[in-house]
Amino acid sequence: MGRLVIVSNRVGSSLSANDGGLATALLTALERRESVWFGWSGEIVDEPPGPTRIRRDGNLTRMLVDLERSDYDGYYLGFANRTLWPIFHYRVNLAEYGREHWATYQRVNEMFAERLASVLKPDDVVWVHDYHMIPLGAALRRLGVDNLLGFFLHIPFPAPEVLTTLPVHEALVRSLFAYELVGFQTGKDLQAFQDYVQREAGGRAGDDGTMNAFGTSVRAGSYPIGIDPAVVAAHAARAASTRQAARLRDSLPGRRLIIGVDRLDYTKGLVHRFAALERLLETHPQYRRAIVALQIASPSREDVPEYQQLRAELDARIGRINGRFGDPDHLPVRYVNRRFRQETLFGFYRASRVAMVTPLRDGMNLVAKEFVAAQDPEDPGVLVLSRFAGAARELNDALIVNPFDVDEIAEAVDRALDMPIEERRARYAPLMSRLEQYDVHAWREDFLNALQRSGRAPRRALRWEPYERVA
Ligand code: G6P
Repeated sequence: MGRLVIVSNRVGSSLSANDGGLATALLTALERRESVWFGWSGEIVDEPPGPTRIRRDGNLTRMLVDLERSDYDGYYLGFANRTLWPIFHYRVNLAEYGREHWATYQRVNEMFAERLASVLKPDDVVWVHDYHMIPLGAALRRLGVDNLLGFFLHIPFPAPEVLTTLPVHEALVRSLFAYELVGFQTGKDLQAFQDYVQREAGGRAGDDGTMNAFGTSVRAGSYPIGIDPAVVAAHAARAASTRQAARLRDSLPGRRLIIGVDRLDYTKGLVHRFAALERLLETHPQYRRAIVALQIASPSREDVPEYQQLRAELDARIGRINGRFGDPDHLPVRYVNRRFRQETLFGFYRASRVAMVTPLRDGMNLVAKEFVAAQDPEDPGVLVLSRFAGAARELNDALIVNPFDVDEIAEAVDRALDMPIEERRARYAPLMSRLEQYDVHAWREDFLNALQRSGRAPRRALRWEPYERVA
C-alpha cells in the first residue's frame, strides 16, 4: 500500500492545542499508516519561501512550506478567509471579493501543487482538505499527476443561491471535478453540491454518488467527521483529577458550570450566546449566584477586520453582563482568550453541567462531540446544540436550538440546568453510542475505501483541461 499524503493549509503540530476541528481530527486519524502531511508551516516570510521543510516524526513526515507575506495576504487572509469562509457559512454580507485575491489563491495552490508533485510517489494516495485547497487537485492534474486524489470539505457547502454570489463559483466547483472523490460533512452539504451541479452546471447525477458535469465526473458522498470517544473519555476521566480541573471545581462552590469552547469566530454565534445568557440572568434571578458561564475563546485570524470587531464586541458585552449581574465575590461570566491543552479541556467538559455549542453555521463542530464523550456516564452534563452545526444531524438527543433565537437558547439552558439525572443519562447513552459507532477512524476508512473504489473509474485516464486563469 502506498503512502497516505494529507494536504491541508494548517498542519497539526501535536494533540495539545485547540487548533480547530481539522487539525485535531486529522492528527487522531493519521496515527496508523505511513503518512505525509503537507501544508503551510504557519510562517510568513518577507522573501520568496525557501525549500520545503521536512520533519519526520515516527511514521508521519510533515512537509512544510512558508508563505510570502503578499501570498499570505491574498490567499489566506484574502480569498480563503474573507471570501470563501463567509460565503460558505452563509454570511454573504461579510464577504469581500477581489480578482487579485482570487489570482493569488490560484497561484498559491499552483505553488503547493508543484512542490507536492515533486515528492509524490506513483502509488501515493493524496487526500486534500478544506476550502484553502479546492483548486489543488486541478493544479496537480495539470502537472500530469495521476495518483488517486480525494478532497474533503470541513466547512458547510452552501446552497446554490448563496454560492452563486461568489463571482468565480463555476471555476471553483469545476476544479472539484479533478478529484476522484469529494466528501462533505453532512447529507445537507452533499445535497447542496448536487443541486449546484444540476441547476447551475447543467450536470446530472449518475449511479453510486457520481455527478457528471463539465465533460467529466466525480464521486461525491457525505462522511461526517468524528472523534475517538474512548480516548476522549479516558483523558477526561484522568484530567478530572489534575490540579487545573481541581482548581476550577474549587472555584465553583455550590455553582453549576456552563461551558463554551470556540475559536473566536463570527460563525460561532458568540454574540447571540451571550445575549441568551444575559436573558437567562434577567429572567431567572435565582441563577445569578448559582451559575458560572466559562467561555474559552481562542483568538483566531486576528488580521481579518471582522474578527477584530467581534473581539471588541464580545469584550463590551461580557463586561456589561458582569457589571449588571456580578457581585464583589462572584462574576457570572468568565471569559478567557487563550488556548488550552486538549486534555485540560476534556477535564473542564467533565466538570460542566451544560455545554453551549451554538454556531450560526458550522461544518461539524467537534467540541459538541468531545463534550459528550468527556462526560461521566453516571452524572452526565447536557449539550445545548445549534441545529446549524453539522453535528446536530447525528446528535439529535442533545437539546437542539435555533442559534438566532436568544429566548430559545435561554430556555434550553434553563432546562439543561434543571434536568433530572434520569433524563440526562437517557440522553447521554444514545449520543455516546452514535459517537462510538462512527468514530474518526471509521470516517477515515470510509472515505479512503470509497476513494480506492472510485479509482477504478476510467475517468482517471482523462486529461484535465485547465480552466481560465485570471492574470
Ligand atoms: C476551521 C477550518 C480549518 C482551520 C481551522 C482553524 O476548523 O475548517 O481549515 O484550520 O478552522 O483556522 P485557521 O485559520 O487558524 O487555520
